[in-house]
This record gives sequence, structure tokens and C-alpha cells, in this order.
Amino acid sequence: MLPLYQSQLGLFFILLCPTNSISLWWAVGNPLVLDPNSICRKTTRLAGKQAELCQTQPQIVSEVAKGARLGVRECQFQFRARRWNCTIHNRHFGKILRQDIRETAFVYAITSAGVAYAVTQACSMGELLQCGCENTLRRAAVPPAAGPGAGAATWEWGGCGDDVEFGYDKSKQFMDAESKKAQSDIKSLIDLHNNEAGRLTVKNYMRTECKCHGLSGSCAVKTCWKKMPHFREVGDRLLDRFNGAFKVMGGNDGKTLIPVGHNIKQPDKQDLIYSAESPDFCLPNRRTGSPGTRGRVCNGTAMDVSGCDLLCCGRGHRDQTVSFQENCQCRFHWCCVVQCNQCTVRKELSICV
Ligand SMILES: *[C@@H]1O[C@H](CO)[C@@H](O)[C@H](O)[C@H]1NC(C)=O
Ligand SMILES: *[C@@H]1O[C@H](CO)[C@@H](O)[C@H](O)[C@H]1NC(C)=O
Repeated sequence: MLPLYQSQLGLFFILLCPTNSISLWWAVGNPLVLDPNSICRKTTRLAGKQAELCQTQPQIVSEVAKGARLGVRECQFQFRARRWNCTIHNRHFGKILRQDIRETAFVYAITSAGVAYAVTQACSMGELLQCGCENTLRRAAVPPAAGPGAGAATWEWGGCGDDVEFGYDKSKQFMDAESKKAQSDIKSLIDLHNNEAGRLTVKNYMRTECKCHGLSGSCAVKTCWKKMPHFREVGDRLLDRFNGAFKVMGGNDGKTLIPVGHNIKQPDKQDLIYSAESPDFCLPNRRTGSPGTRGRVCNGTAMDVSGCDLLCCGRGHRDQTVSFQENCQCRFHWCCVVQCNQCTVRKELSICV
């Protein structure tokens, strides 16, 4: 029965029983968990592989937790205006992880991506002993002809590149750990696929950054290195894959997945896959883990998923005026103070009934 959550109000505790790697690391990565590292001190209560990872790689554990947190935040940003908004501060959340719907796929992918990202970033920042800047490119004697600025100024690999391979491997080791045990079970195959899709969405979109040297502006020599994509970009790409997710079912051998429906192409490694249709998330439902959309703020003019019609599931909405304080009429005084007045701002909100 690990770990212990504390609500923001500190009023109640929710106990979760992590059933696999993702729910464990989401739990550890929850900003509300009292102490992320406490999970490792209680290793006797952790199952096999996780306990081993905690003991052998304690520094990585806290980066993994950071990565899970990054995934949580991105999930909440991407789903902020949808019926299911990736809320984890409630007892429904674990239910999502135990299913095999599109939302589950997104959560697995964004978490594995977050872990690969955070570990890699820690390497570049010099925060881990086991890794550092990417340097295999630097050892290459001749920069590839297709590289940045090819044909123009001379340039070389240098600076501090992101060692994404290291982060990718750690994400695999930590996130795939429990799912691997039962390779024949369809849910495990789907989870592992989506974990990989998330990691690849970081690894396959590395960008090149360069810096000029030489007399001001001349750029006689350039130094270039590889950086990971911005994590927002990873979230955007995974949301696209969520929208185009593939439905699959288990093959007869129990070890393969086949797309459902005819004329459907095989999902590629970066596609998200699922095996069960999502509930509509309109009403609270304990079984599916839907908190319902009552009380959600909707957009009265939008025609998309954030619009009141869709978000409130046709139940209608009420308008409410909220007022809050905001800085206004700010003036700059020489030197260097900014003085503002406090204004009361009123805003009309539409709220699902
Ligand atoms: C997400 O949904 C929950 C439950 O429906 C709600 O309490 C919360 O305020 C929502 N979060 C955002 C950012 O809209
Ligand atoms: C509501 O939707 C309209 C139209 O899509 C958009 O222009 C506006 O920014 C939205 N408002 C909010 C508060 O998101």
C-alpha cells in the first residue's frame, strides 16, 4: 500500500496500490507526495525489480520522479479543455491506468517520454555521475556533409549535446520493468508499445543548435550540438497520435497485436494503440474512473471540445461572474521600480451543470 498522498488542503489521504511501473512513478512523481525519495527507503514494500532499481540507482530515481511529474503537467496542459482533463488529484486516476483506452495510452507515452527527457536533461546539467554531455559526435573526425551550415562556414560538433540514448535506456529500464513480466498478456504488450512510442517522440526529433565564433557577427567558425525537442513539442506530437490512435486486439498466439477493422494499416512504432473504447467521461463513474464534467469551466463560443455543448454533454451550463484582483496601471519609476494599482477584474465564466 504505497505511497501516501496528501491533498493540497492536507485534509485527507488517498492510498493507492501501484499495480505497475507507470502507476508507481506517477505516484512518486505526484507533486503532492510528501517525499519522493521516501519510496526507496521503504523498499521492503516494493516489488522485485523496482526495489532493485531503487537500491542500485538512487540518483536516477529522483530524476525518474521528476520526469513523471513533467509528464503529468504536460498531460494536464494538453487535455485542459477536454472532458477527461488528466486530473490526478483524485481517487479516479488509478482506474485510467488499469484500462486499455486511448487516455491510458497517452498517459503511458507521455510519462515514459517525460522520464527519458528528465534523465537526459540531468545528464547535460552534470547532475548525474553516470552520464554527461553527448560526445560521440565530437569524436567523429569529419562532420556529416548534410550538417548545419554545410558548404558555408566551417563548423564542428562541440558544446554540450544531449545524451538522449542514456535517458532513453533509463526510461526503458524503469518504465518497462513491471509490464515485461507478463509478456503474453495483451495489456502489457499495449503498455510497452505506448511507452516506446513516448520515448521515440523525444529521441526521433532531436534538433541541432549552433553557436558562431569569430569576429563579431562573422561566424567564421560554428560549433553545433544536438538538443532534445522542447517538451511541449513532444506533448503536441503525442496528442496528434492520441487523436489518430489505432485500435488493436490480441492475436491467437497471445503474443502479437493486430489492428482491428479492415483495410487498416499496421501502427508504426510512434503510434499510440488501445484495445477498448473510452467512456464518454460525462458523468462520474467509479468503475471507469471518470470524474464527470459537472462544475467544469467551458467556452460558450468555441465549437470544439472545449465548447459548452460538448464539454457539458448537452446538460447545459450556467453563467457566473467571478471577480479577482489584478495588477493594473503599472508605471515605471526611474530607477528601477514598477508601481501598480490593484484593480478588481470581473469575468464571465460558463460552468457545466
Ligand atoms: C479538471 O477536472 C476536474 C474534475 O472534473 C476539475 O475539478 C478540475 O478543476 C479540472 N481542471 C482544470 C484545469 O480545468
Ligand atoms: C473561446 O473560444 C473562442 C473561439 O474558439 C476563442 O477565440 C477564445 O479564446 C476562447 N476563450 C477562452 C477563454 O479560451
